[in-house]
Amino acid sequence: MSDALSDLLARRQAGFSLERPFYTDPAIYEADLEHIFYREWLYAVPACQLTKTGAYARVTVGAYNIILVRGADGEIRAFHNSCRHRGSVLCAARDGQVAKLVCPYHQWTYDLDGRLIWARDMGPDFDPTKYSLRPVASRELCGLIYICLADTPPDFDAFADLARPYLEVHDLSRAKVAHTSSIVENGNWKLVWENNRECYHCGGTHPALCRSFPLDPEVAGVSADGSISPRLQAHFDRCEAAGAPAQFRLSGYAGQYRLARMPLQENAVSYTMDGKAAVRRNLGRVALPDAGTLLKFHYPSTWNHFLPDISITFRVTPIGPQQTEVTTTWLVDRDAVEGVDYDLTRLTEVWLATNDEDRRIVEGNQQGINSPAYLPGPYSPEQESGVEQFVDWYVRTLQRSLSPVAVAAE
Ligand code: FES
Ligand SMILES: [Fe+2]
Repeated sequence: MSDALSDLLARRQAGFSLERPFYTDPAIYEADLEHIFYREWLYAVPACQLTKTGAYARVTVGAYNIILVRGADGEIRAFHNSCRHRGSVLCAARDGQVAKLVCPYHQWTYDLDGRLIWARDMGPDFDPTKYSLRPVASRELCGLIYICLADTPPDFDAFADLARPYLEVHDLSRAKVAHTSSIVENGNWKLVWENNRECYHCGGTHPALCRSFPLDPEVAGVSADGSISPRLQAHFDRCEAAGAPAQFRLSGYAGQYRLARMPLQENAVSYTMDGKAAVRRNLGRVALPDAGTLLKFHYPSTWNHFLPDISITFRVTPIGPQQTEVTTTWLVDRDAVEGVDYDLTRLTEVWLATNDEDRRIVEGNQQGINSPAYLPGPYSPEQESGVEQFVDWYVRTLQRSLSPVAVAAE
C-alpha cells in the first residue's frame, strides 16, 4: 500500500481537492490511523470532566480503547482499557467514577495509578508488579488533556509553550462541563476538517451561527499569504492591550496548529441567537467583552473556541473510512448555576444546530465523492486557503511518516 499511497500523494495537484481514494479507501484510512492518529498528540477531554478522584472517561482512537482516570494524588493518567490478565476491557461505560479499576471478567483489581493490587489464585510465583496497566502518554495543558499513542511521542512543548499564554487567561481550572454532545458524521475525517477550515459554506448553511460569526474575510480570516487586514490587526492590538493574547500564530510541522483571537460580528459577544453573552458569569479573565473568540486548531484531533464567557472544545475521532465522531463540550465557570446564570438551550443551540448542519454538508460531500464520476476540484483562493492548508499538512505529514529520510533530505 505504501508505494501506491506515496504515488497518490506525489501526484496530488496543488490547489485542488484530493483524489477519491483518500476519502474512500480502507487501506488509506488505515494509513491515516497508523501514520497520523497513532503518532500525534491528540486532544482527549477537558480536565474538569474528571474532577473527583476515580472519575474516568473512555476515549477510542481507531482500534485503541483508552481510559483517562484521576488518581488519588490528583493526577489524570491514561491507560489502555485492556486488562493485563486476558485482555478484557476494564471500563465499558463512556464515563463514570470508581474507587479502583476492577476487571469485570475475573476481578483483577488495579489502583487508579494503574498498579495491579489484587488478583485471585495466581500461585506463589505470581509477581503483580509485572502486570500494571499499560500507560498511554498524556499531558495537561491549561485544563486540556492530550494523549499520544506513540511509544516515543513527538515533542509537545513547542505547542504548549505557544498556546499557554493564549489559554491561561481562560482559566479552565475554574471550568465545569455544562454540556457534551457526540454526533457521528457519515464522512471521512478529512472531510470534517476540510469543512471546518472554510466559511465559504457558512452563509448558505449556518443561519444561527451567522448571527454572531462574521463572514467578511477582512475580519474573519487571514489571507493565504498570511497578511492581516488593518481592521483585524486593530482587534488583535485591543485584545492584547487588555491582557488577552490575540495575534495570529500558525506553527508546528506544516502548520499543525494555529491560535488567533478573532472578532465576532459587531455587537456580538458570544455564540447565541441574539449575540449577547450566554453566561452571566465569565469563565476566565478576558475583561474585554468583545474580545471575540480564540480559535485554536491542532491537527488531527481538535478545534476550539474560547470566549470571555464560555469555552467550547471539539474533538474529531475517526471511526471508519466514512465515519467520524465529533464531540463538542461546552465549558462554563464552575460557580455558574444553570437556570440562574445561564440557560442550557441558549448556551448550546447555536453550535448544536451548526454541528448538525455541518454533518449534513459533510455527508453530502462524502456521497458525491463516492461516485466514480468525482474528480478533484479547485479551491477558491479567497475563501478556501484554510482547506488547502489542512490538506497540505495532511499530505506532508503522511509523506514524512512514510519516507522520513527522503523528506528530511528535501
Ligand atoms: S481478563 Fe481481566 S481479570 Fe481476567
Ligand atoms: Fe460549517
